[in-house]
Amino acid sequence: MVATVYSAGVFGLEPYIVELQADILDGKAGVDIVGLPDAAVSESRQRVIAALKNAGFALPPKHVIINLAPADIRKEGAMYDLPMLTAFLISMGRLRESELALNVSRCVFIGELSLSGQVRRVNGVLPMVIKAAQSGFETIFVPAENALEAAVVEGINIYPVADVAEMLSILRGGSDAQPVANVGRLFMDDADDGLDFSQVSGLFAAKRALEIAAAGCHNVLMIGPPGTGKSMLAMRIPSILPKMTFEEAVETTAVYSVAGQLNEDNRLITVRPFRAPHHTISQAGLTGGSSIPRPGEISLANNGVLFLDELAEYDRRTLDVLRQPLESGHITIGRASGTATYPCKIMLVCATNPCPCGYYGSKGGKCTCAPGVPEKYISRISGPLLDRIDIHVDVPAVDFETLRSKRKEESSAEIRERVERARAVQAKRFEGTGITCNARMDSRTMDAACRLTPGAEKLLREMFDRTHMSARAYNRVLKVARTCADMTTDDPFSELTEEHIAEAVALHTREMKYWTPSDKGTGMVR
Ligand SMILES: Nc1ncnc2c1ncn2[C@@H]1O[C@H](COP(=O)(O)OP(=O)(O)OP(=O)(O)O)[C@@H](O)[C@H]1O
Ligand SMILES: [Mg+2]
Repeated sequence: MVATVYSAGVFGLEPYIVELQADILDGKAGVDIVGLPDAAVSESRQRVIAALKNAGFALPPKHVIINLAPADIRKEGAMYDLPMLTAFLISMGRLRESELALNVSRCVFIGELSLSGQVRRVNGVLPMVIKAAQSGFETIFVPAENALEAAVVEGINIYPVADVAEMLSILRGGSDAQPVANVGRLFMDDADDGLDFSQVSGLFAAKRALEIAAAGCHNVLMIGPPGTGKSMLAMRIPSILPKMTFEEAVETTAVYSVAGQLNEDNRLITVRPFRAPHHTISQAGLTGGSSIPRPGEISLANNGVLFLDELAEYDRRTLDVLRQPLESGHITIGRASGTATYPCKIMLVCATNPCPCGYYGSKGGKCTCAPGVPEKYISRISGPLLDRIDIHVDVPAVDFETLRSKRKEESSAEIRERVERARAVQAKRFEGTGITCNARMDSRTMDAACRLTPGAEKLLREMFDRTHMSARAYNRVLKVARTCADMTTDDPFSELTEEHIAEAVALHTREMKYWTPSDKGTGMVR
């Protein structure tokens, strides 16, 4: 008889339901798998046969054919072992649907098998369980090791199984195993990693700049001599960003699930990710890739921070690939096996020294670089990338008194409260537009959102002429000014004042001492 069993797969971050059919035909004994299987699926033939034998089932001396549909999706991974084995047993008449406690046509099976019949963990379980629930299935069998990530999904009975015997016993109603309790929102607590802004002494201007950046999700570049706290500040940015929503947590966890980077403790990622890839990272490592697409660092940072430390050391061509995804919030990777899309809604945080010795432009004239070297060093940073950075932060050396002072620094929680208030104003303004923050405003939205008082208009005109502002720089100043305004008012369409424009221009021009006029063309204010 033809047995039909359901499973699920995921390509990129897109899950889909797979239908497996098994039939026993007359002819040469053996097992055939059809439906565009890749090498991993063909290998499952061996594992399923061994697992069946070890579970005490003799193979019939017949020709067994297993078909995976839809045929036009290239299936990868070993998650089809468990459904294949189930389809096999039904087609052999060893599992009679009429005698089962569960309706197999309402079940989804996911899991790799070991030769002895253990069910092993697979990648991408979270998006697959979401898909099964959305498609109206009643029950899903997942590997026991994937239970925690699956348990956040509501609306479907989830049975984690450790081996074939356990699955068969649940199917037959001979087990008192219960589906896992849904734990969804229980895990939305903000795990404390111990990193807090209160640990950073002084640097008030830099902290204010980072607060504005967090409030509008603006990308930032920190410049300063060695050891002044740039990396320290960057690592603490997630602690001042708004707390993750449940939906953001599920989306980020799904990326980690597909990438195979969830460990047992990582049931649901509830803290914004902070990814800091080394400057030797390859293009594929940063944006995702390999012959079968996998999420890269930019997607692993989704809903969090991507930190590029020592920005001038990165390969320009590697960084240039970030341009488009930084604007769109997603990245599409084309490969022979298909095109995968991953989210990458990130806040980009970069840090650099101003020159190879690190002290160019700092107090006391300590720079030991030969003339021309600092300019050359800083100009290694890709212009188009700089174009996408709204805020430049000066991080000067902190003096002895500040480091020794017993002054209580403001905590991340206090800063986050103001950031969340500013985000609430943005949410009101952008309701129904799909725009999430000021940094992502398009020019049409800006027309309505960035109206100026007459005084602000006059100041902006003056600054525009004096600093030879490019059109791009002009837009960035307006976006940042809008964020400065959102931190002081509840009115989402309030006019921007001189104060807001002045602060935004300062946040953009403070670092110009490091660039020479010959670097023109990057669209920066000079
Ligand atoms: N403002 C500060 N308050 C308290 N400690 C600080 C401060 N700045 C630096 N430190 C101390 O100095 C160490 C080095 O700082 P950090 O690594 O952030 O420097 P950096 O600016 O990233 O330097 P580099 O340019 O060499 O990467 C920190 O781990 C911290 O212990
Ligand atoms: Mg550093």
